[in-house]
Amino acid sequence: MKFFIDTADLAEIAEAKSWGCLAGVTTNPSLYAKTGGKLADFESHMLKIADLCEGLPVSVETTASTVEGMVEDGLRFSSLAPNIVVKVPICEAGLAACRMLADKGVRVNMTLVFSATQALLAANAGARYVSPFIGRFDDIAEDGIAQLADVVACLGNYDWSGKNVDSRVEIIAASVRTPLHVTKAALLGVDIATVPFKTLSKCLKHPLTDRGIALFEADWKKVEQA
Ligand code: G3P
Repeated sequence: MKFFIDTADLAEIAEAKSWGCLAGVTTNPSLYAKTGGKLADFESHMLKIADLCEGLPVSVETTASTVEGMVEDGLRFSSLAPNIVVKVPICEAGLAACRMLADKGVRVNMTLVFSATQALLAANAGARYVSPFIGRFDDIAEDGIAQLADVVACLGNYDWSGKNVDSRVEIIAASVRTPLHVTKAALLGVDIATVPFKTLSKCLKHPLTDRGIALFEADWKKVEQA
């Protein structure tokens, strides 16, 4: 399973990238708002992320509500840099825009997916990535991982050749809140988990590793002093 980072914060992206295990970035309007960025700077900020990522896929989300608006945004975003993927919410207009963008060779990440049927519709409309959400199910006392399992099983039953520019669909586990979500997604064989920086750090840390490093350092000092 590949790791994407779910943030629009340049410092977090740079830090995660420096670890050598980052495969992409996903953003959304809420994550951009969190950076304090202005509307006029949105596209230049996304371009900065795309440059920083040096070819790794960066999802940039449309906020348009019509097919025309989504397609217009999508064509503009994807022309900013070749590694920009257009993120579109699943709805009637989103599916239609996805098909039009896919037919023009644009990679689409279909977001806000909460069911297997939505995932199947997205893949048939030419989505290159399908993003089922986990945490928001848990928020309403439902099992986000069980829902994700249904998406994995349903999309895995079919060959998506010819449906989009790469003839493949990757599932991005989104709304990931905990390291356990990451492990469970990987156990299901999910292609990608998009993880906030805080959760990514939690995935890295283990108290026994910290204790082990401290012990090795202390013992090595004894060797140096002997
Ligand atoms: O990128 C979309 C998704 O990851 C949002 O997560 O935590 O706002 O449900 P969350």
